[in-house]
Parts: sequence; structure tokens; C-alpha cells
Amino acid sequence: MDPETTDALPGYSASLRAFHRAFHRELRRAVAAVPLPPGSRVLDVPCGDGFYTAALARRLYPFGSVTAADHSDAYLDAARERLGRQGRTADIAVVKADAYRLPFRDGEFDVAWCARSLISLDDPVAALKEMRRVVRPGGLVAVLEDDEFHRMQVNVPVALELDVLRAVADAARERYGSRAGLSPARQVFRHLLDAGLRLEVRKTFAADRHAPFDPAVRRYLRAHLKETRDLIADRLPPAALAALDRQSDPRDEGSPFRRPDAELTCLTTLFLARK
Ligand SMILES: C[S@@+](CC[C@H](N)C(=O)[O-])C[C@H]1O[C@@H](n2cnc3c(N)ncnc32)[C@H](O)[C@@H]1O
Repeated sequence: MDPETTDALPGYSASLRAFHRAFHRELRRAVAAVPLPPGSRVLDVPCGDGFYTAALARRLYPFGSVTAADHSDAYLDAARERLGRQGRTADIAVVKADAYRLPFRDGEFDVAWCARSLISLDDPVAALKEMRRVVRPGGLVAVLEDDEFHRMQVNVPVALELDVLRAVADAARERYGSRAGLSPARQVFRHLLDAGLRLEVRKTFAADRHAPFDPAVRRYLRAHLKETRDLIADRLPPAALAALDRQSDPRDEGSPFRRPDAELTCLTTLFLARK
């Protein structure tokens, strides 16, 4: 749990950036669903490249403040770079911090925001307890999460979807010791209870897209299919792997990149919990 100083962005950073670009409208809607009275003091932890810090700080302008915290130097540099390009925002501070030992006083914030990071934290309850500590009594911890089984629903053949889901569950069990290891959203309620927080709002944001997909969605879909393949290639029967490769090939007429009836839904869930 010690803070790791990382000099390079993690392997998933390009796919995460593509996700932000593809679904920024729905992600901003999730940010807009957090109650933020003027003057609110918000902590974004872990902030990654500052995508949500920027959205929160634009929302709060002209009053209030957002503190972006992460333990990765590379991500903090990326956040500073992004946040330096924003126009009108509330005050922003970027701080190197370990999510398990935040360098902030008890009750220093009104809201702690934590997006799509519980999978990166090997003790999510400890991290949520630390977020609870730094928000004031009556303040909020806001968690945005998804579930590998539901995040991207694409109208590929049903048989392939079933093979892929089973292989993802097996890969999750091997990597995380549990089939739910890649399903942080379905564990958030339990984690919030264990951290002493009271769930008030659970709201899912659906991004619906249909062919022809715009370039940002195409880019994310390619990244998603590649990540899925990397995770499960050695677990799929050869015919299913060949089918997945056809779906991932933008030149293949049967892939969602070319099919005129291709459609996808991307689900992300916001949990608002009260201290
Ligand atoms: C999947 S990224 C999500 C980042 C951002 N919230 C977003 O959605 O774009 C996970 C983040 O957790 C950070 N992280 C992992 N363990 C951490 C820790 N112990 N303390 C602080 N940050 C941590 C990583 O550096 C990375 O930025």
C-alpha cells in the first residue's frame, strides 16, 4: 500500500483516454449529477490525467476548489498539462498523494470524487475510509464505477458474447482471486457500507451509439476489443478467438466497424454516499 512512484503512464492509459473522449457527454452528465453548491471543496482521488478534475472545476467556476490527487508522477504531469489548458475553472491544486494516507485534515472537503479506480486499489474499503475521513460530517463520497460484464454491450453474435464473458470471468478469478474481480461496480455498495458510508443515490449513465460510429467511439471500441483479447486469448476455443478477431478487424464486413446495424451501449454507475 506504499505510494509507488511511477515514471511512465500505465498500459491502460491510452484506452482510458479513448474512453473519456468517446463518452465525454455521459461522463460529464455523471459529474453534473453530484450536488455541488457554490464554494464546494472537492477532492478528486485518484485523479489520473485530470479528466474529471477539469469537469468538476468547470462546473464549480467561479467559486470553490478542486484538489486532484494521485500517486503517479506521470499521471500528475498529465493532469497538470490538461488542467493548464482549461479556461474558466474553480481553483485547482494538484497534489501527489497515496489514496490510503491522504495528506489532508479530517473534514477538509465537502465531496470526495473517485472515478474508475477501485480496481487499481488493492484495499478499496481502506481507501474509501480515508476519503470518508477527509470529507466533513454530512459530506459526500462519490464513486463512479463500471463492471466488465456490462460496460460495453455490442451487438456481436450471442455465442461469441457468451464465450467472451465466461473467459473474462475465468481471467478475473485467476488475476484477482474472484470472478467479480473485474466488476468493481457490483461491489461498491458493500464497500461503502464497510467504510461507514450511507448510500443515497445510485444512478447509471448509458451511452448509446449506433453505426456509423464517430472516430472517438471507433478508437475506444478498438482499444476495448484489444484489451479483451489480451485478457482472454488463451482461454477462448480457437473458433471463438477467430470470431473475436473478425469482430475486432475494422476491415471485416461483419465487424461493428463496418456493419450498418452496429450498435453499442456503455454503462457507468455513479454512487453518492453520505458521511
Ligand atoms: C484507472 S486510473 C483512473 C484515474 C481517473 N480517476 C480516471 O478515471 O481517469 C487509476 C488511478 O489510480 C491511481 N492509483 C492507484 N493506486 C493509488 C494509490 N495507492 N494512491 C493514489 N493513486 C493511486 C493510478 O495512478 C491511476 O491514476
